[in-house]
Amino acid sequence: MRILVIHGPNLNLLGRREPEHYGRQTLEEINQDLIAFGKLKEIYLSLRQSNHEGEIVDWIQQAIISDDKFDGLVINPGAYTHYSLAIREAISGVRIPTIEVHLSDINAREAWRAESVIAPVCLDQIAGLGARGYHLAIERLAQSLSE
Ligand code: DQA
Repeated sequence: MRILVIHGPNLNLLGRREPEHYGRQTLEEINQDLIAFGKLKEIYLSLRQSNHEGEIVDWIQQAIISDDKFDGLVINPGAYTHYSLAIREAISGVRIPTIEVHLSDINAREAWRAESVIAPVCLDQIAGLGARGYHLAIERLAQSLSE
């Protein structure tokens, strides 16, 4: 099983970015932990981060058209969550099973943050569990892919 994990804009700043919301773990630490988790579960993970909407759209499209195909997608779209119809339509266009993850509880913060334009095209949204949310998302995807 092959899962693509995309971290969106500003998530490269984890560790020093608003730790009261996003914790103190760096993205590098989160990714190292996910690689170990993937090995344990025998799931190949490709972990990527971008601050650019178009690059994220390209990666989602390539997930089905290249030799390097993926069975599922885990995405934390960062602020794109709240307005990127391009990312939403990339996900609905490729029809790849997707789970949306947020480190913080987007439903318990500012009103604008509670709206996700990405959620309607995802199997599920996991928010507010910190980096553990990525583990749950990978497990949930693996479960739904093996059904
Ligand atoms: C976030 C929540 C978003 O609202 C925010 O713009 C982020 C991070 C999270 O992981 O909690 O960049 O996706």
